[in-house]
Amino acid sequence: MLIDSHVHLQDKKLISDLPVILANAKAAEIDYMICVGYDYASSCKAVDLAHKYSQIYAVVGVHPHDADTLDEKTLSELYALAKKPKVVAIGEMGLDYYRNLSPQDQQKKAFISQIHLAKELYKPIVIHDRDAHQDVLDIIKKEKAGVNQGIMHCFSGHLPFAIEIMQQNFYISFAGPITYKNAKKTHEVAAKITMDRILVETDCPYLSPEPLRGKRNEPANVTYVAAKLAELRRKSLPEVEYLTSRNSKQVFRITG
Ligand code: NI
Repeated sequence: MLIDSHVHLQDKKLISDLPVILANAKAAEIDYMICVGYDYASSCKAVDLAHKYSQIYAVVGVHPHDADTLDEKTLSELYALAKKPKVVAIGEMGLDYYRNLSPQDQQKKAFISQIHLAKELYKPIVIHDRDAHQDVLDIIKKEKAGVNQGIMHCFSGHLPFAIEIMQQNFYISFAGPITYKNAKKTHEVAAKITMDRILVETDCPYLSPEPLRGKRNEPANVTYVAAKLAELRRKSLPEVEYLTSRNSKQVFRITG
């Protein structure tokens, strides 16, 4: 068994081919996929998919790229959406200072208001952090954002940052970049942090793992991420699959 903890099946690159993609995932023994929204419309689609397919769960929220779309009205719509069945977390939310597609003060505001929303709903949060480690950590600490746990998705920081994040009650999720030869910093984190806090994901359709770089990514490919993790931890693949699935179920509170 294996869980892909972060997918965007509602993306137009994947949705048009969904039956094939879900069949591939089944053949690769992926039990569950966590479909993550990045704005209100994509969050609604994630919930629709979760209601249609037993193997899909939904996360609803607004990505830092789209932070300027999160007004009061959208926030209350998100609140109602988050109460629907099979919504297991709020996100993806956070800060992206690499692309800065929304102004940084707006990104912070949207991040904080979604942390408050998740706390009201007693749900964990899914964080996107790119080149914004210190501000993400400061906000997490100040807002006590880990009170219902959460996930730092597609982790790209160094070991001391991972340890600080875990102290704030967060899990660390690794995606395709862990399979890249030059990802030494990520390899070190994956090899050293406690296995109890590690998840695996594809972030599909983005970030295809080796040896599939440049091709469309899909949930079946999370096996490459798990295999690399097994190599780094000197564990068997079934053991890594079992542990990361157990961790995913814990943080998303999936039973069964
Ligand atoms: Ni994502």
